[in-house]
Amino acid sequence: MHHYKEIIASYADKPGGLIEAYHAIQKEMSYIPEEAIAEAAQVFKLPVSQAYGVATFYSMFSVKSRGKNVIRICESAPCHVAGAAEVIAALERELGIKMGESTADGKFALELTECVGQCQATPVITINGKPYLDVSPAKIPDILGEYK
Ligand code: FES
Repeated sequence: MHHYKEIIASYADKPGGLIEAYHAIQKEMSYIPEEAIAEAAQVFKLPVSQAYGVATFYSMFSVKSRGKNVIRICESAPCHVAGAAEVIAALERELGIKMGESTADGKFALELTECVGQCQATPVITINGKPYLDVSPAKIPDILGEYK
């Protein structure tokens, strides 16, 4: 059970509370569900459209359900040149999903990202923000194994 109501309540009196609450909810659920946006609108006394607008304005928030462990593959030029496409293919094969999708068991989501500032060791992926450097298709099963 997710307790987004308690999370929202705990930020109700804080300045910038709405964004902080969204961060906390996303950290726990990996996205911000519609019910949580409706609840936030009520608590922060905003029209739902505005609470929704805040959640969709920032690219760090997702309002779409997605897998708990968010895997991002850097697609900027240095990673691309170093073989990001092969890493993407390996991830898609291993997880049985395509880029932008989540696994049916809700464990993993695959997304693309811009450079994450680790270009010294391309290609790079991140899982829940943790960077993995010098990734190759052969390393994918072990990396994913840490999250299974
Ligand atoms: S280009 Fe991929 S981390 Fe910088």
